[in-house]
Amino acid sequence: MSLIKINQQGLLGDNYSVLISEEEIHQRLVELGDEIVNVFSGEIPILIGVLNGGFIFLADLIRYINIDCEIDFIRISSYGDAEESTGHIKVLKPLSADIKGRHVVVVEDIVDSGLSVQFLLKMLSAFEPASLRVATLLRKKSRMKVDIPIEFIGFDIEDKYVIGYGLDDRQIKRNLRAIYIVDNDRD
Ligand code: IMP
Repeated sequence: MSLIKINQQGLLGDNYSVLISEEEIHQRLVELGDEIVNVFSGEIPILIGVLNGGFIFLADLIRYINIDCEIDFIRISSYGDAEESTGHIKVLKPLSADIKGRHVVVVEDIVDSGLSVQFLLKMLSAFEPASLRVATLLRKKSRMKVDIPIEFIGFDIEDKYVIGYGLDDRQIKRNLRAIYIVDNDRD
C-alpha cells in the first residue's frame, strides 16, 4: 500500500494522538470492498453516504468496490455541534435517488449510540428497497443504545471522541488523513 506522505502536524497541535493510521484505514478498505463485492455480486448496489462525516469514507470505499455501484447522499442532524446524541433527528438533505427495489448500503462515519442509523433504517425502509444494509467505518460498541445489525464494520473502537478522515471536532479537523483521539483535557 503506497500512500503519499503529508505532514499534517500544523493541523494537529498537542491535543491529538493517532488511533488509526492512513495505512491501516486503507488496508481495511481493501477488505471491506471485497466483503461488499461478495454480497452484491451480480447487482448494482447504491451506497448512501451520510453527510457530513461519511463523505471521505464513501469516496475512498467505492474505489475498493470492484463492481458497478451508484452513490447518493443524505444529510441528517442529530448532534448539532454537541458531542452527545440528542435523539432528535431531522433530515437536512433528502435522498435524490429512487431506492425502491434497490440494494442499499447506508455509509456512516461512526456508529455511537446507534440512534442515527436506527432513524435512517426506519426512514429508508419506507421507500421499499430490495435490501438495506449499513457500512460504518467506526463503531463504539460499548456506547450503543439500540440493537441494530451492522453488516460492514471498519473498526470497533473504545469509547473516546475521535476526529479526522471526515470526523469533526466542532466542524473542523475533517481533513486529517488519519483518525485521532482527542485528549480529554482540551477546553
Ligand atoms: P449516533 O446517533 O449516536 O450513533 O451518532 C452518530 C453520529 O454522531 C456520527 O455520524 C457522527 O457525526 C457523530 N459522532 C459520534 N461519535 C463521534 C466521534 O467520536 N467523533 C466525531 N463524530 C462523532
